[in-house]
Amino acid sequence: MSAILIKNVEVISEENNEIFNIGIKNQVFSYIGKETPTGFDNAYVIDGKNFIAVPGMVNTHTHAAMTLLRSYADDMILMDWLQNKIWPAEANLTGDDVYWGTKLAIIEMIKSGTTTFADMYFFMDRVAEAVQETGIRASLSRGMIGLVPDANEKITESIELYNNWHGQADGRIKVMFGPHAPYTCPVNYLKRIIDEAGKLGSEIHMHLSETAYEVSECEREHGMTPIALMNSIGLFDLGTLAAHCVHVTPADIEIMSSKNVRVAHNPQSNLKLASGIAPVPEMLAAGIIVGLGTDGTSSNNNLDMLEEARLTAMLHKNNKSDPLVIPAKQALNLATKQGALALGFSDVGEIKVGQKADLVLYDTRKPYWYPRHDRTSLFVYAANSSDADTVIVDGKILMENGNLLTIDEEKVYAEANKCGLRLTK
Ligand code: NI
Repeated sequence: MSAILIKNVEVISEENNEIFNIGIKNQVFSYIGKETPTGFDNAYVIDGKNFIAVPGMVNTHTHAAMTLLRSYADDMILMDWLQNKIWPAEANLTGDDVYWGTKLAIIEMIKSGTTTFADMYFFMDRVAEAVQETGIRASLSRGMIGLVPDANEKITESIELYNNWHGQADGRIKVMFGPHAPYTCPVNYLKRIIDEAGKLGSEIHMHLSETAYEVSECEREHGMTPIALMNSIGLFDLGTLAAHCVHVTPADIEIMSSKNVRVAHNPQSNLKLASGIAPVPEMLAAGIIVGLGTDGTSSNNNLDMLEEARLTAMLHKNNKSDPLVIPAKQALNLATKQGALALGFSDVGEIKVGQKADLVLYDTRKPYWYPRHDRTSLFVYAANSSDADTVIVDGKILMENGNLLTIDEEKVYAEANKCGLRLTK
């Protein structure tokens, strides 16, 4: 696409909180300032008046195609929900189901201001296709479970996914290996995964220390917490994105900090499944990179990252120790820049010259945008993700004035509905 010039837009970013012109060229932000930049004579111009520009949100933990199972089984605890409802339905999944379910999720993400997601599921080549076609950015992992007859095939699929898709779609796709969790992957299976991922240089995306039950079972069986066990077998040496980390001890946090384990914090999912509240302030204080995720549309029924940011800022307000409280600005940073770092995208997550041009314009012609004492505070505590109006990823417009430019919305709704109803028959 040719260059894009967004004129007179209010900007929320780490450094800027004013009205600027934003120039986008060659997939990156090339100008942010008060002047009209040179070299943009033929640029596509967007009038930024009445809009606020926010970095695209980064959803660090999803099972996107589970949109198809949305509302099929709710109000259950994790193990009951997985074993009796979700796993039996998932046994019927086809590649086409995953393709349409993922596209449904991508529509929801773009429309709510998310520009990058980290997905762990099956038929990931079809997820990669959906990512490539729609223009969104993603880190993809084939979920692997060791306690099934085709456990080895899942490792082979992960290797193929890595070889076929890592770095593809102009670098918008990354691939990680995705062992599901300590309670579904025996140590010997994990060792094989570590071996294969290590040969390729792939990182790991895994659920860790999600529930108190998981931790106590692991301690009973191995005499170690899940974090200590993963460390003992060398998993963290590959680079790890750990989803949840709700029940981690101070010793676990020390290990995570020293091994640069990055965390996907999923507050809504953890609350909905009654898993608990992760000690995010303590992890941040230890220098751990924490991003936010929906775990959607798995245990959590939506993919709304603004809700996760808001919840993160609110959940940790009751802490008695002031330095550990997470203010709105930090919550937004976790939902954007820190999330991108958690996924290994170092040039994503900020509206800053040289960064990849992933940006969302939110319509501010709403009652809750007045008065403008603090734009970041208004965004995190008052705004609505459905106010996302225009979305740009990698310098390409994916949605303009609420219209999706790379997706046939009606077709996706019809196909996803068909797939979802068939799966749960
Ligand atoms: Ni999950």
